[in-house]
Amino acid sequence: MYDCAKKRGSSQLAMAVPHLITLIVLIFLSETPLISSSYASFSSPPFGLKLGSSLSVADFLISPNAIYTAGFYSVGENAYCFSIWFTKPLADGSLTILWMANRDLPVNGRFSKLSLLKTGNLVLKDAYQRLPIWTTNTRDSKASAYLKLNNSGNLCLRNKDGEILWQSFDTPTDTLLPNQPLTKDAPLVSSRSVSNYSSGFYKLFFDNDNVVRLVYSDSKLTGIFWPNPELRAWESGRNTYGSRRIGIMDSSGRFISTDDLVFNTSDAGDGIQPLRRLTMDVDGNFRAYSLDETRGIWRVTWQALSETCKIHGSCGENSTCSNDPVYGRKCTCLPNHTMINRTDWSYGCKPEFKPTLCGNGDDQFLHLPHSDFWGYDTRYMPNTTLNECKQECRKICNCKGFQFKYDWNKGFSICYPKFLLVNGLRSSNFNGSIYLKLPKDTIPIPSKNNHLNCSSKPTIQLDRTYDINHQNESTEFLMRIITCVFGAIEIIFITYFFYGTHAHTTTTTQGYNLQVASGFKRFSYAQLKKASRNFRNEIGRGGGGVVYKGVLNDNRIVAIKRLNESSNKQGEAELLAEVTTLGKLNHMNLIEMWGYCAEGKHRLLVYEFMDNGSLAMNLNSSTLNWDQRFEIALGTAKGLAYLHEECLEWVLHCDVKPHNILLDSNYRPKVGDFGLSKLLDRDGGRDLEFTRARGTRGYMAPEWYFVNLPITSKVDVYSYGVVMLEMVTGRSPTCGGLEGRMDRWVADKMGGENDGWVKGIVDSKVVGEYDVRRMEILIKVALRCCDEDKDLRPTMSQVVDMLLHVE
Ligand SMILES: *[C@@H]1O[C@H](CO)[C@@H](O)[C@H](O)[C@H]1NC(C)=O
Ligand SMILES: *[C@@H]1O[C@H](CO)[C@@H](O)[C@H](O)[C@H]1NC(C)=O
Ligand SMILES: *[C@@H]1O[C@H](CO)[C@@H](O)[C@H](O)[C@H]1NC(C)=O
Ligand SMILES: *[C@@H]1O[C@H](CO)[C@@H](O)[C@H](O)[C@H]1NC(C)=O
Ligand SMILES: *[C@@H]1O[C@H](CO)[C@@H](O)[C@H](O)[C@H]1NC(C)=O
Ligand SMILES: *[C@@H]1O[C@H](CO)[C@@H](O)[C@H](O)[C@H]1NC(C)=O
Ligand SMILES: *[C@@H]1O[C@H](CO)[C@@H](O)[C@H](O)[C@H]1NC(C)=O
Repeated sequence: MYDCAKKRGSSQLAMAVPHLITLIVLIFLSETPLISSSYASFSSPPFGLKLGSSLSVADFLISPNAIYTAGFYSVGENAYCFSIWFTKPLADGSLTILWMANRDLPVNGRFSKLSLLKTGNLVLKDAYQRLPIWTTNTRDSKASAYLKLNNSGNLCLRNKDGEILWQSFDTPTDTLLPNQPLTKDAPLVSSRSVSNYSSGFYKLFFDNDNVVRLVYSDSKLTGIFWPNPELRAWESGRNTYGSRRIGIMDSSGRFISTDDLVFNTSDAGDGIQPLRRLTMDVDGNFRAYSLDETRGIWRVTWQALSETCKIHGSCGENSTCSNDPVYGRKCTCLPNHTMINRTDWSYGCKPEFKPTLCGNGDDQFLHLPHSDFWGYDTRYMPNTTLNECKQECRKICNCKGFQFKYDWNKGFSICYPKFLLVNGLRSSNFNGSIYLKLPKDTIPIPSKNNHLNCSSKPTIQLDRTYDINHQNESTEFLMRIITCVFGAIEIIFITYFFYGTHAHTTTTTQGYNLQVASGFKRFSYAQLKKASRNFRNEIGRGGGGVVYKGVLNDNRIVAIKRLNESSNKQGEAELLAEVTTLGKLNHMNLIEMWGYCAEGKHRLLVYEFMDNGSLAMNLNSSTLNWDQRFEIALGTAKGLAYLHEECLEWVLHCDVKPHNILLDSNYRPKVGDFGLSKLLDRDGGRDLEFTRARGTRGYMAPEWYFVNLPITSKVDVYSYGVVMLEMVTGRSPTCGGLEGRMDRWVADKMGGENDGWVKGIVDSKVVGEYDVRRMEILIKVALRCCDEDKDLRPTMSQVVDMLLHVE
């Protein structure tokens, strides 16, 4: 059960200490289930430290409510940091570290001490070293100071008048607890990696203009990436006048700061108050977490960035980041580049070619569509042609490539030659291209995709060496036995006390391979019944259920889809697995799923509410003008392209129709009901799990009717084409008269060679001008989408490309 054979040498002590602490705390808890506050008056471990006493590596302090523990935490072989953590380990046995005194300078496992000197100074000394590794630099004139860990997780040094001489809340490392302020003097700094707690690359801080920002900085580069650096502070809803510079989250999950950064965690105000923390994570995101006590895991309840590729530095130099709903994000080296360190993307990729000598002038350029590298431009060249841009980059020695982008507002293309290729992003959402400079004659070779493997935690060797190492063989053997015995006892205790009544999974990994996106949560049936006022206001039907409008406790308006009882047979776990993946998909043209409910026979899904209903509801009124129709065509294509491509054909929609294209208050489209085809009517067993003929007559691709043809993402392309034709002509494919094939009708009309054919096709009910050229392209693209042969249909991202490049 407790495998000790793998551990060696002095690490025995390292492994034993936190476990011993847990064990002892557990014994305390078991014998005095309610530790009364009278213990607070004790000033010797484990409740406090008085003047002139010290803590050794094996000692610890616990808070009166036993939630927090302070002590020496093992960060590597014979390396310890004085830390505060949540007493109770997670389901996988790991402890959650909240604070560290000496994260960048660990101390030896033996003879290191935290001492409260007679002068009132708190010092941390490494074994046999004269100078302290860390100190609070405090003085106590009243000779009455004592150190205590309080019920909020704050380690306080006070004198007898209650005056605070020093407190850990003033010097956070990467985590804030509820009611612990973020201040201008104390930024949060991420850890270097999941297993290395020393200071890392990301920082949350108050900038000079009083705004809370996230910045990446390593030895070479530095750059702010949140809030969006392309916007002014006020455009991101921040205010620059809060010169007090303070931000704080209360215990119910509401955060507020002087720059108007305000958010509620997804479980704010639910009544029950879980343990919470705000952490500057090693992956560069700032997140709020709540402890799920029954499962022993942290749940993300808010995060600063939902598109992880917007975080700078994540993929290193010469590599691009793309979103992946399974892995979160995926790094890929540029063509003709290889990864420098196979275990760590932050090192980036190096070229496999020798750069040409400068001024040679015959470099070639490799076109990488939908790509961007942020910042590090040598110049800004508006109104430039592609050729001029290439000439410019050939001329500049350190030009590594350039971004070329058509600006719709300005009406011309812009060229940005780059001297550094960092913060790379690849997304069908992004409408610019990168042209990579390669020496003439290089044959472009795309690099293989590599997934960032977050689960492998390398074992760590501390690079500081210690001159004292007298541990002899026999004590080592003794330690090994002690570790094994205590380890076994401890496991029994943990299991008994904390998980005895719950089946728990140990496969969950805390941290960066996040299972649940921010804002996504489980609702109770009662909550949703109340929100929808007993399912009174029906706003739509189809896709396996009825949709109702509702209002949540926090006043958010939602659409609640109640799945038909007959159409779902799967259990809660199965439903959860699928909806959490759907909840993770994040795109401006996809409806956001905010949560679900699975209780008894009830299965409900909770979505954001769209003000202007579906495209179907708006098609026949004159509310949509031609520009809006074109934008709907483009937005819908982008949403589907994201589903198909960034998700690697993971989600086929299978029911694209005007009823599933929803419109927000500005008539921008979002695709809804995706992923449901997999959720509903699963007859289990066969893997190509689509029961035949799914979707809506009139919009269904021919291959649905032929048993032998495979179902691919091209079925959605076909349906999309039909919807576009419907939008342009105003004719519905579902009512007769056209024999179901609108594309033939349109193609016939097009046959006439004269230029007036567009006029004969477009919906005469829609008033207003249209751009003939744009309409022509839209119709032609839609017709290609409706091709009988699925292989002749374009992919959704090709559709996006074609619509974007109408000139
Ligand atoms: C812990 O200490 C902080 C700072 O002194 C104080 O604000 C907080 O109320 C204390 N918490 C408890 C539970 O005593
Ligand atoms: C957070 O919740 C409170 C109380 O429900 C509400 O007044 C406030 O507007 C919410 N804030 C945000 C940013 O949603
Ligand atoms: C890659 O990085 C890891 C951790 O940062 C380091 O231990 C390893 O030595 C590096 N490997 C190479 C080949 O540089
Ligand atoms: C990235 O590629 C450029 C050449 O395009 C090269 O000069 C640079 O050293 C590369 N970066 C790294 C980290 O190897
Ligand atoms: C872009 O350049 C062309 C030719 O140099 C010029 O005719 C046109 O007016 C310019 N457009 C803008 C918006 O400046
Ligand atoms: C942790 O990271 C720091 C900074 O990069 C490095 O100096 C140190 O050697 C690492 N420690 C371990 C134990 O890998
Ligand atoms: C569309 O939404 C806007 C904003 O909510 C609203 O003013 C308008 O009346 C809506 N239009 C229709 C047709 O519902």
